Amino acid sequence: MTANMTEFIKVAGLDEIDEGEHCTHISGPLNEGELDGDVLTCPWHGAQFNVRTGKVLRGPARQDIQTYPVKIEGKSILVSLPEE
Ligand code: FES
Repeated sequence: MTANMTEFIKVAGLDEIDEGEHCTHISGPLNEGELDGDVLTCPWHGAQFNVRTGKVLRGPARQDIQTYPVKIEGKSILVSLPEE
């Protein structure tokens, strides 16, 4: 492996996910929000986030959400975490 290659680690199986990221406003359940293309809308007060960049697109949330490169291999979810 070269230094520039992205390393992915398995974090869960596709059948093991029950909860996701919480909204940065007051912790609404973003896994219950509506996804339209790259735009995720929080079900509680309508804040919108770009799911690729994590950037807030519409308030009331002001703080971006954290995003990571993800890929699916078979029934496994793999994530690339930033180097410390
Ligand atoms: S908790 Fe998400 S917009 Fe308020």
